[in-house]
Parts: sequence; structure tokens; C-alpha cells
Amino acid sequence: METSKSGSSSFPATASITYADKTVTYPVITGTEGERGIDISRLRSDTGLITVDQGYGNTGSCQSAITYIDGDQGILRYRGIPIEEFAGNPDFIEVAWLLIFGRLPTSTESTRFRARLTANAHLHEAMKHTFEGFPASAPPMAIMSAMINTLGCFHPEMYLIKDEEIFEEAAARLISKIRTIAAFTYRRVNGLPYIYPNPKLRYCDNLLHMMFSMPYDQRVADPEISLAMNLIFILHADHEQNCSTSTVRMVGSSKANLFASCAAGVCALWGPLHGGANVEVLEMLGQIHQGGLTAEKYIEMAKQKGSGTRLMGFGHRVYKNYDPRAKMLQSVCEKVLKKLNLRDPLLDIARKLEELALKDQYFIERKLYPNVDFYSGLIMRAIGIPTNMFTVMFAIGRLPGWVAHWKEQHDDANSKIARPRQIYTGPVNKHYVPMDSR
Ligand code: CMC
Repeated sequence: METSKSGSSSFPATASITYADKTVTYPVITGTEGERGIDISRLRSDTGLITVDQGYGNTGSCQSAITYIDGDQGILRYRGIPIEEFAGNPDFIEVAWLLIFGRLPTSTESTRFRARLTANAHLHEAMKHTFEGFPASAPPMAIMSAMINTLGCFHPEMYLIKDEEIFEEAAARLISKIRTIAAFTYRRVNGLPYIYPNPKLRYCDNLLHMMFSMPYDQRVADPEISLAMNLIFILHADHEQNCSTSTVRMVGSSKANLFASCAAGVCALWGPLHGGANVEVLEMLGQIHQGGLTAEKYIEMAKQKGSGTRLMGFGHRVYKNYDPRAKMLQSVCEKVLKKLNLRDPLLDIARKLEELALKDQYFIERKLYPNVDFYSGLIMRAIGIPTNMFTVMFAIGRLPGWVAHWKEQHDDANSKIARPRQIYTGPVNKHYVPMDSR
């Protein structure tokens, strides 16, 4: 591949590909942070070739103005604002609005959006019967995905987003009701009575109330615990083209509605290599704690190819440095345990694993550092959230990101249905054989 320089930019503005005796030249697109990508949209029609990039590690599926990550330097920014700046004041709803609408809300916009969330916190009573239809053993992520799709059935007028007003209402419904769905899922799986949302409570307090109150005993969350939950949600709110967000965009590209697209996102998030890793981290720590294994032995197993073991909560497709979210969560984890006066032996094991991995050549060479899932589960466990609800909490946090990406794609006049190509490797020109001749 050759490149050609242009104008004032110090980087070439085009790239040329030579194959057989033909050379084609394509524009190089540059983002606001200087990231560059070759626009190969004419490649197949010009040459008959396609690109092959399993796992899409080198493929840009879209141009997006929502989140910026520099994985080498460990930088994460929402709409240009560094993630570290969210550690102090803002709440999750403000960050959700920022991601979805592109700027921080004014006080009028914030009040209006909050009022929409409050008005939408309840689920239709008929949905309670749907919850009852699930066995108590149902995985919470299966319930959540099904219920988000079911939610759409109660708001069919929102299948078609005709204007900004309908979109804002649909976004508020989803963001508010996902919290009630999560709490009702927990109550269903544990055979507990459903607790209705309290309009006087803020987002995280209301979630903790619906999960942990009893009809005869209203639980008021400690403000520090509520803040920790708020930060967990903020840190999970978006992460550009990750597996679940790409899924939401893929489904949305067929013009599927917002509810269906986000339900698909929940399914993608469920996997252990994505959001489900927070469950796997706790299982790994529990396994070591129960004594079958030591931290040293676990690290050795994680390094062995074919052992089927990975150091869960370590490594990232994009970060080749410390995930900035992991750093922030580590410090919140220490604070929450101190506040609750808890000493969790699993935190000691996590610290030990981190210490061993960070000085081990295998992890250093592959640039494997703790990711967002390494400490988040320990915080949730301290708060009393059971392991099987961890990925559900991740989904609540990630929803604003999914909604923001769905909107960005929906508003893009040039958006196309996502339809990758393949290199076919199956049998060639075989014939059908009738059953009695096989
Ligand atoms: N433990 C041991 N080895 C690892 C790990 C790990 N956690 N992660 C990657 N490697 C090795 C891998 O075996 C490979 O080695 P080699 O070059 O010798 O074949 C090399 O590092 C590159 O790994 P990869 O699988 O090609 O990298 P990827 O970018 O496809 O995968 C990942 C990224 C996150 C799926 C992977 O690091 C992983 O499985 N981590 C554990 C699961 C986890 O914590 N997932 C949460 C990700 S963050 C939250 C989210 O976005 O959902």
C-alpha cells in the first residue's frame, strides 16, 4: 500500500492499494483527535476484493462524535470531557443526557428530562404477569432482554421516531424503566414482592429502594453507597463501538426500533468476554478464596494456551494501558468497604492477582491491564447486589450509550444497513442426494 501527501496536513490524505496490475487510491478520513482511516467503500466495485478482519480490530464501522478512547494512553472522554471529571459532581442522568444529546443539559432541560423519568418509572401492571412467566431460575440477563422488547409492545407509537419530542420520551422511558425491570427481575428471581418506584427518590436511590426495601420496611440508601452506584453507572455509560453497542447499531441499521435494538444489546453484553466478565471475575476470586487454587497458580493457568482459563477482568481490545475506569473503581471499592466497615478477602486476592500480573512478562508483553470489570463486582458485592445481577447493572449503565448510538445512526442521512461480506470456504458445486441413496 502506498500513500500520497496533501496540502497542509503532515499526514497523507490518500492511500493507494496495488493488486495485480491495478492501483486504486482512496481518501484517508481524519477524526478530530487525529485518528485516521482509509475509506475503502469503493474497494469491491473497483477491484472485486473485500477486506478480511476477523473481530473487526482494524475496521471502522462508522464515524461517531460520542466517545473518544486512546487505548495506548488510557484516555476515555464522553463528548470530549475526560472520564476523570465525572468522579465528582455530575449524576448519571446528566451524563446520560450529555451522551444522547451531545452537550450538558441546561437546568430546564435537566428538570424536564428528570420529570419524564419520574413519570415513566412504573411498568404497566400487565408486565408483572410476564415476570411471573419466567422460572425463578431464569438468568436475569435473559429476563432483561425479553422485558425490554416487551416494553416496546406497550408503546407501539414509539416504534417510529418521528421527531425529537418522541425520541426524548422514548429515551426517558427506556432509561427509567430499565431500572424498574432490573429491580423486578431481582425480586422475581428471589421470590420477593415487587416494590414500586418512589417518585421522591433519585435514580440510584430508587433502584436500591426497589431492590432492597420490603413492603413493611423502606430501605434508604446511604448517600456514599448511592454515589458509588452512580459512578459505576457513569463509568459504564459508553465505550464507543464495543460488542453490544455495535450490536445495537447493527440491529438499528435495519431501521429496527429503539426497544428491539437495545434488547439485542443486552444479549450481546451478556457474554463472558464482554459485560459478563464482571460475573466471571467474582467466580475466579471465589474459586481462589475457597482454596482450590492460589493466585500464583491461577496466573500460571491463565498464561497457558489451551487451558481455557483467562485472567478475567484483565485485557481489552482497545486499552493497551491501564483502563482509566478500573483505576477509579479501585479507589471507590476501597471507600465503600471502609464505609461499610467490611473487609473482603476477595479484594485481597484481586490486589494480589493484579500485583502478580503487572510484573509478569506474559501480561507486560501483551499489554494486559485491569479493565472496568476487575473491581466493579467487588463494589456491587459489598452493596449487597448478588453476582447474577452484576451484568444487569452493567446494562443499566450502558443503556444511555446504546440510545446515543442508535440516535446518531438514526439521524445520519447516509446510514446504510450493516451487511458485511465473507470469504466463502464451504463445498463447491455439490449435488442433492435423495434420502434413500445417502
Ligand atoms: N488472560 C490471559 N491472557 C489473555 C487475556 C487474559 N485476560 N486477555 C488476552 N490474553 C492473551 C491472549 O491469549 C492472546 O495471547 P497470544 O497473543 O499469545 O495468542 C493475547 O493476549 C491477545 O488476546 P486476544 O484475545 O487476541 O485479544 P482481544 O482484543 O481479542 O480480546 C478481551 C480482548 C477483553 C476479550 C480479552 O482480553 C479477554 O478475554 N479478557 C478477559 C475477559 C474480560 O475481562 N472481558 C471484559 C472486557 S472490558 C469490559 C467490556 O468491554 O465488556
